Amino acid sequence: MTVQDNSRYREVHARASRDPEGFWGEAAREIDWIERPAKIFDGSQGVYGRWFADGVCNTCYNALDRHVAGGRAAQVALIHDSPLTNTVTKFTYAQLLDEVKTLAAVMQDFGVVKGDRVIVYMPMVPEAVVAMLACARIGAVHSVVFGGFAAKELATRIDDASPKLILSASCGIEPGRIVKYKPLLDEAINLAKLKPQACVILQRPQETCSLMPGRDHDWAELRGNAMAAKKSAACVPVLATDPLYVLYTSGTTGIPKGVVRDNGGHLVALKWSMFNLYGIKPGEVFWCGSDIGWVVGHSYIIYGPLMHGATSIMYEGKPVGTPNAGAFWRVIAEHKAVALFTAPTAFRAIRKDDPNGEFIRKTDLSHFRTLFLAGERADPPTVEWAEQQLKVPVVDHWWQTETGWCIAGNPVGLGLLPVKHGSPTVPMPGYTVHVVDEAAKPLPPNTMGSIVIKLPMPPGCLPTLWNQDDRFREAYLTEFPGYYKTSDAGYLDDDGYVYVMGRTDDIINVAGHRLSTGGMEEVLASHPDVAECAVLGIKDALKGEVPCGFLVLKAGVTRPVTEVEKEVVALVRDRIGPVAAFKLAITVARLPKTRSGKILRGTIKKMADGDPWTMPATIEDPKALDEIGEALKGRV
Ligand code: COA
Ligand code: AMP
Repeated sequence: MTVQDNSRYREVHARASRDPEGFWGEAAREIDWIERPAKIFDGSQGVYGRWFADGVCNTCYNALDRHVAGGRAAQVALIHDSPLTNTVTKFTYAQLLDEVKTLAAVMQDFGVVKGDRVIVYMPMVPEAVVAMLACARIGAVHSVVFGGFAAKELATRIDDASPKLILSASCGIEPGRIVKYKPLLDEAINLAKLKPQACVILQRPQETCSLMPGRDHDWAELRGNAMAAKKSAACVPVLATDPLYVLYTSGTTGIPKGVVRDNGGHLVALKWSMFNLYGIKPGEVFWCGSDIGWVVGHSYIIYGPLMHGATSIMYEGKPVGTPNAGAFWRVIAEHKAVALFTAPTAFRAIRKDDPNGEFIRKTDLSHFRTLFLAGERADPPTVEWAEQQLKVPVVDHWWQTETGWCIAGNPVGLGLLPVKHGSPTVPMPGYTVHVVDEAAKPLPPNTMGSIVIKLPMPPGCLPTLWNQDDRFREAYLTEFPGYYKTSDAGYLDDDGYVYVMGRTDDIINVAGHRLSTGGMEEVLASHPDVAECAVLGIKDALKGEVPCGFLVLKAGVTRPVTEVEKEVVALVRDRIGPVAAFKLAITVARLPKTRSGKILRGTIKKMADGDPWTMPATIEDPKALDEIGEALKGRV
């Protein structure tokens, strides 16, 4: 590496590569183990080996009990700030522990034991954090489903995870509308083949719901009774390799992948990251502005900050409109957050509403040190604007649901490396990142290829997919033997900086949300009038990308095409959810294809994005592209 700096990064990364067991064994000393792991990595276990395989621990103990015992009982652990309900609620470590012990006991009363799955389908309320930690406490495996998904998506997850219990709420709140969760939950349970034994429902005052006798139970009532009876659940010892959670993420089909997270590796990696990557000291206030339904929310609203003894902010609001583009600065100033972690799209939204940063200048941000961005490519103009306005380092970092923590970033705690806009900087310790060609041969610097990670992955990364070792091998390990395939394309520069330019599969990234165009095509194709379709991500100034569907209608469909277009838009909202942001369907006479029948998605995308494009030599009929050009006029 030729970059000059005073960072300890190179020495630390080199040590982790040279002696991974020594490095992670040392990091594991930061965790309270019930039985310390004797073997740090066991290559003979699992699909590609397991970390800390004989260690015994409890994640909730490390997030709460150890801090209460260690002098942080009265420190605020969680601040729930909701401009949507005009409330700020704080929980000390002792209070949060009490809530968790109580809910964990309630769950045990329902017969939930170690290894059972519990689905958490909840909005951004503190009870959702309590629910996740309560699962961790008794060794149950939580699976959080994002509130913006529709009933069918929830049903798919219920069938895959077969939960004993579902924890949910009467409603979520989006600006200007109440999202009724209960009808979605009821429909999902109806659709699911495997029914949960019971549901515990948090009634929110903004919209209560009716409870189904026998199946549904009132959260507040159960909590009240359990508190009165002084019920409390102790931490259940689990193996480091036992699953802590399953989080579903978009795959290339409509069937999502259940990413498994273990207990031990996750504890060690996240605890390591809090200071070394994010530069946070215990006792400081950290704000991750994501949603608990995404991996970023799991790792850095809940587990990372709490394992570290920090104070975490949970925000039920938006970057703009709740009430204005100053919302983020208000939260940072009011709660004295030293760092914020959000998606670039949030900054694009703020910049659009407040281009000169007037709200920023009206707020005292003197204690604010670092902005972290992830979830999608951080476009250089947005990063530059944030740097100029905030006058603090802006750290782009790249990761995936599968890894659970950062693959490449700029480590604040180890000492920042020089920033290169457009790059999330360098691989974190434990990650050996290569860019390879189709034959898995490493490519020279500055050459685009597939980004892969040398096996084994570091602690914290997924060991497998839920009940699907074969799908895990097939999706991630087979194409490039010896490597994990990230499905991201990009390059490394001469200094070893990583550049992540886009996906190699049909995943698109809409406002930092990961979505499958294949899944949307399945929905479009199910419409009775649609003969053929293609969905692709097209550029969007705010959300980065938005989906755009092209429809070919069946012969004989005579009604106005706009009717069908409206219906498919509604169908995607109904089947996948509003989060898909599918608002544009365009009817064409045919889809441009190669002579072998492959839809020319890349060329269509370039046309829709207004990028230069050339006529593919393999095209079946060049006129089909002219027709696409015509159809796009006035629509994008
Ligand atoms: N429950 C129900 N519906 C939800 C929802 C939830 N939890 N979250 C989003 N939605 C809905 C929205 O209301 C919207 O519905 P609409 O089509 O009726 O307007 C739709 O899903 C799309 O939502 P979103 O992508 O959030 O767009 P938006 O226009 O409401 O807001 C931004 C745009 C940029 C402000 C917003 O996307 C944002 O804050 N992004 C940051 C994303 C982020 O932090 N990602 C985490 C990865 S690090
Ligand atoms: P998710 O699993 O939802 O976190 O989405 C992961 C995908 O988001 C990655 O595979 C990338 O395509 C994209 N992504 C996340 N962070 C970044 C980043 N910092 N730069 C570029 N792409 C990113």
